[in-house]
Amino acid sequence: MSENLPASSNPLSRRDFLSTGAKLGAVLAAAPYVARGAAGSSDTVNVALIGCGEQGRILTNAALKIPNIRFKAVVDIWGYNRTYAERLLKKFGHEAVPFEDYKEMLKTVTDLDAVIVATPDFMHAEHTNAALRAGKHVYCEKLMSNTVAGARSMVETARETKKLLQIGHQRRSNPRYLHARDRLVRDSRLLGRITNISGQWHRAVTDDFGYVASQKISDEKLAQYGFANMHEFRNWRWFKRYAGGPISDLGAHQIDIYNWMLGANPRSIIASGGVDYYKTHEWYDNAVVVYEYPTKDGLVRASYQVLTTTSAGGGYHEYFMGDEGAMKISENPKFTKIYREARAPEWDPLVAKGLIAKPDSGEGAPAAVKPWEKPGVKKLGGPSKGGTVDVRETAQLSAWDIPVTLDKAIHQPHLENFFDAIRKGTPLNCPADQAFASAVTVLAVNEAIAAKKLLTFKPEDFLVGGV
Ligand SMILES: NC(=O)c1ccc[n+]([C@@H]2O[C@H](COP(=O)([O-])OP(=O)(O)OC[C@H]3O[C@@H](n4cnc5c(N)ncnc54)[C@H](O)[C@@H]3O)[C@@H](O)[C@H]2O)c1
Repeated sequence: MSENLPASSNPLSRRDFLSTGAKLGAVLAAAPYVARGAAGSSDTVNVALIGCGEQGRILTNAALKIPNIRFKAVVDIWGYNRTYAERLLKKFGHEAVPFEDYKEMLKTVTDLDAVIVATPDFMHAEHTNAALRAGKHVYCEKLMSNTVAGARSMVETARETKKLLQIGHQRRSNPRYLHARDRLVRDSRLLGRITNISGQWHRAVTDDFGYVASQKISDEKLAQYGFANMHEFRNWRWFKRYAGGPISDLGAHQIDIYNWMLGANPRSIIASGGVDYYKTHEWYDNAVVVYEYPTKDGLVRASYQVLTTTSAGGGYHEYFMGDEGAMKISENPKFTKIYREARAPEWDPLVAKGLIAKPDSGEGAPAAVKPWEKPGVKKLGGPSKGGTVDVRETAQLSAWDIPVTLDKAIHQPHLENFFDAIRKGTPLNCPADQAFASAVTVLAVNEAIAAKKLLTFKPEDFLVGGV
């Protein structure tokens, strides 16, 4: 139990807890959209939030920057987080009624248009299905569910109710990712034929989350909501009954982007992992996986690793590699770079069109080094540049940039896409059936680690009811 944790292993210290007011002030400064006058506006979307923890707050904060969103209710079984969200919203003119029980909220608040679900993964299906059945559109956080059956039920309910269901893989609405996929990889064939992908999210060892003793939820109430104890309630990500561990917590974001960028699902998976370090967790703290993707251009071999016992090795990114170029992309723009293979057509025309930006001195490499310009280097025949590729020039070191930046909170464009879908019929960037395919891809990692052998997928594994 967290109560017995040493002070240093309890990130929610008493000081943190007592300084809620100060932290709230900082959040408020970052959320300038006050909802005065929004009520009654013809395109106002009335929203409830279920799950007011870390991510619920981040989504609230992002939604507060979008015009004509009105929060009507907040739901959380933990009074501490519920009150925080209620107070935050009040500062911006939203009278969000607090509820402990989502069923009560859905019954009582009759003028809702949409529900945002940011509860632990094992509750996503129940909360989403109930909100859809109550006639609301739903934005549900990733991973869609901790089970394939749960995720499938969400697709089925969205279809039955004909309500919108957006899953929170927010990279799909990030303008830099959209530019990379649509303008560079698809339209310009910048990478040529993609042959390999690698990706990673590495994190240093962290302490478990704790809680202030006065904010402990009673054992009866924890049991009523499916939690074994406070330690598991706070650290649900690491336990099998609530979630899928680091591969679904972190890897899900990026493996979803593999499927999205390729427009394909994998045909096989092999993986290795284990509880190598932590003593109080159930899920694999390190996981390494290799997928094979059949694509119309040929096979793509895609590796991914999530390491939570070291931060070494460059943070988090997805790296798409082709025979004419490679693109390293990340939610963090400082990790995003593109590299040209020597055999590729010149990229200057793409620079002229504003699709990519000129090489800089990125990542410590000298700009546009050309080995064949050095004395004593012999030129050899090459496939696509009229016979002048140097044998040693296996890859270029200078890095081009993607000249598209996101000047908003990273979740805001994905929420905007959801609200635009409600208001204007804009297609969702992460509809339930696509997120289902990603959930199948991600959840298979834990299965493959346990099986200790190559597993194969059938195309129908990624479909619900054959569609
Ligand atoms: N898209 C992203 O970048 C991103 C980032 C972090 C987390 N997430 C996702 O967001 C979700 C929430 O993660 P978090 O980090 O905020 O976790 P958290 O533990 O900080 O918050 C979860 C909240 O849900 C509440 N809760 C639990 N059971 C509930 C129930 N039955 N009814 C109502 N409330 C309940 C908890 O009291 C808590 O306040 C997860 O699905 C996670 O995968 C997404």
